[in-house]
Amino acid sequence: MSRGPVVVVGAANLDLISYVPRLPTAGETLHGSSFQMGYGGKGANQAVMAAKLGSAVEMVAKLGTDVFGDGTHDNFRAQGVDTTHVHRTDAAFSGVAPIAVDPHGANAIIIVTGANDLLSVDEIEQARPSIAAAGVVVCQLEIPLEVTAAALRIAREEGVSTILNPAPAREQLPDELYLHADILCPNEPETSLLTGGPVETLEQATEQAQLLRERGTAAVVLTLGERGCLVVDDHGATALPSEDVEVVDTTGAGDAFVGSLAHFLAGGADLRDAAGRASRIAAISVTGRGTQSSFPHAADLPPELLAPTASD
Ligand code: RIB
Repeated sequence: MSRGPVVVVGAANLDLISYVPRLPTAGETLHGSSFQMGYGGKGANQAVMAAKLGSAVEMVAKLGTDVFGDGTHDNFRAQGVDTTHVHRTDAAFSGVAPIAVDPHGANAIIIVTGANDLLSVDEIEQARPSIAAAGVVVCQLEIPLEVTAAALRIAREEGVSTILNPAPAREQLPDELYLHADILCPNEPETSLLTGGPVETLEQATEQAQLLRERGTAAVVLTLGERGCLVVDDHGATALPSEDVEVVDTTGAGDAFVGSLAHFLAGGADLRDAAGRASRIAAISVTGRGTQSSFPHAADLPPELLAPTASD
C-alpha cells in the first residue's frame, strides 16, 4: 500500500443519540435517560478517526444546505479533514441518524440518508486526482451503490488500494465491488448476511471470509466485536484478539476500526499489524459515549500503539 492521504468516499449524518434502559420494541414509547447530538455517518466517522490519528484525510460526500450540513462541514474542518470534495445540495436535507443505546452499550440505528443519496458518479470523477494521489481509498454502503462502485473502480484504474466496509449490511453486493475492493472489512452480521453462513466460531468465520475472498477481494478483515478481528488473505488466517474493556457505547466502533486501519495502512504498516492496532483503538472507542466523540486522538494513545513499524 503506497503512502499518501486517506480518501474517504461516503456518508455524513447528524447522530441523535438517546440512552435508554433497553432497546424499544414495536409500538412502544420509552423514557430515555439522556440525549447527545454528534457528528456521524460511517464515512465521516472513518475520515475523522484517521484524521485524529494524524493522517492527511480528504472526504468525498454530500451535505444539505441546512444547519446540520453547516455543522458537519465545520466539524470536518475542525478535525482537519479536507472538504474540497464535500458538496452541498438544497434538494435534500442532510443525513440524520436517530440512535438508541442500551446500558450494555448495544445500539439500534435508523439512517435517513437524505443528501447522501444525491452524491453522484460525476462528483466521484471530479475527485479522481485526489483518489489517484491517495494512499488508500475507503468506502462503505451508505451512499448509492453505483457511486461506491465508481470510487472503487477509479481507485483500481489509478492503482490505489481500497478498503470496502460493507455497512450497513446487505444480502448481496454487485460483483464489481468484490473485484475492486482490495480489503473487505465486514462485521459478523454483515458477513453472515453476505454469505448466508454462521460466524460464531473462528473456524466458521474463517470459512465465511474465504467465501468472500472467492468473490474477488484479496483480503478480508472480519471484525468480531469484543473478540477482536480476523485477517484472512493469501498468507492464511490470523485471529487478533482484543483487550477486555468496560463497554459504554459501541456506536461507531466499526468506524473507529476502519478509520484506524486506513490510517495505519496509508502509513505503510502491513495488514496484520494495522488490523491489530485498529482493534485496540476500536476497543478504546467503546469506553466512551457517542460516535466521533468517543474516538481517541493520537495524543491520548500509548506511544507504542502509534510507533512506526519495522518496515517504516
Ligand atoms: O456506524 C455508526 C454510524 O452509523 C452512525 O454515526 C450513524 O450516523 C450511522 O451512519
